Amino acid sequence: MSFAHWYNRTLNRIWGFVEDRTSMRKWALRPQPDFTFKPSYWTGAFVVNAFLYQVVSGALLLLYYQPSTNTTLTACGQPVGTQSIAPAAWCSTYYITHSVPMGELLLTSHLYGAYAMIFLMFVHFYRGYYLGVYKAPREFSWMVGTLLLITTLGMGFTGYLLPYTQISYNATNVGLVLALRLPTVGPLIGPLILADGTSQGLLSRMFDAHVLLLPLALAALLYAHIALFESHGIAPPASSDPLQRRRFTEKDDTKAVPFMPHIFWYITKWGLLYVGVLLGIAALWPWNLPTYVGNLAAAGVVTEPDWYFLWLFKFVDFQGVTPVIAVAITTVLIVFVLFLPFLDRSKRTHPRDRPLFIWLATSLLGFFIVMTVWGGETPGIQIVPLLIAETLGPIFAVNAVVTILFHWRYRRSYLRRLAAREVAFAGVDSAPSPPVAVPALGSAEAKGSE
Ligand code: HEM
Repeated sequence: MSFAHWYNRTLNRIWGFVEDRTSMRKWALRPQPDFTFKPSYWTGAFVVNAFLYQVVSGALLLLYYQPSTNTTLTACGQPVGTQSIAPAAWCSTYYITHSVPMGELLLTSHLYGAYAMIFLMFVHFYRGYYLGVYKAPREFSWMVGTLLLITTLGMGFTGYLLPYTQISYNATNVGLVLALRLPTVGPLIGPLILADGTSQGLLSRMFDAHVLLLPLALAALLYAHIALFESHGIAPPASSDPLQRRRFTEKDDTKAVPFMPHIFWYITKWGLLYVGVLLGIAALWPWNLPTYVGNLAAAGVVTEPDWYFLWLFKFVDFQGVTPVIAVAITTVLIVFVLFLPFLDRSKRTHPRDRPLFIWLATSLLGFFIVMTVWGGETPGIQIVPLLIAETLGPIFAVNAVVTILFHWRYRRSYLRRLAAREVAFAGVDSAPSPPVAVPALGSAEAKGSE
């Protein structure tokens, strides 16, 4: 008996036992074709794994963390003689990293786990974008996903202030200046975030949002996201066939693998690997807590957000870009992503059939990477328009050339294949056929012949 056979039989037996005793069949999601056992099909599930780790590690941190700006005369665990009058929020964080057993590992892995979750979410997003999974019937999955993206970034933003370091305090204030300028939303959320206008009010609101409101919103959105996923099934591979975007073929369906226990266990294995790697990295490179808010020695601290907001901070450094302009452009980006399924109307999902949207996605990816590195290298340094054009212009131009070349090359091979097919049909009929005019790519005639 092969290992795979033994392994599957054992899993089936264990699950059969659990199901028999608990009637949990109704909990399982629908079966999926066997070739979806590839990480690229389950990028969203990896984000769920990362989210679960954040919930567990965050709950443990809550046992020690104090969301208070009250200054304390205690040493908060610092070596005797070096203590200063630090806010309780910072003190409790210092205590976690220096006095709680494994506290440093816990806090560092929660921080790096947040980075990993955001990174995996962008992988999930870009994978979906390139493979056109947002097309019918998955438009709402995409839109709920966009809300998940905003909520997850909100989690990062609110969590950044909690250790109450000078750097996080400065960056949160800059972020708030931008967020409160959001049209309609800004004036609405302003009083909610700023509370009574004191630092304590702000910290309390950020804490409430981070540990209660946003996780609840995230869980509710995730429920809707997975319910939609369940109703449409997993998106089939990208294709030039306009019908292929809906579902797998019947042949694929006959090779379906039940979600429980196989797919669930497959995702869990990746989850365990994720936790192992995360803890390993956190143990090797523990996070150093920067100095606290109000420490006079921190007067010269550079204002810098976490890496996923660096691009926006750099944007505000551009000469002529006011916070209003930065917020307006960010809003346009969000609206574009939200309504993408209704903007990209072609029925084919393959990237080679969507040159305009692929150019846009790749250019924006290049833009975000360059801006992030730039923001990290030169935070707060103003950039003149000529340098902006020289640095960012080539990203869009080179991408345009590459996309046009690829599309042109594909178009030629497509037309060749179409012509060859006509010749083959003519051969089968063995009747002399009139010369065939090859329809233009994307024309109604060409669509009919596919
Ligand atoms: C916290 C963030 C997110 C979580 C936890 C999440 C989770 C998931 C899960 C578990 C799936 C099932 C298939 C898979 O595992 O890949 C899925 C599918 C999907 N997600 Fe997300 N997602 C998130 C963010 C997003 C974002 C930002 C978008 C796009 C704007 C998005 C769009 C989609 C779409 C269109 C599907 C269906 C794709 C398919 O059937 O293969 N999701 N998501």
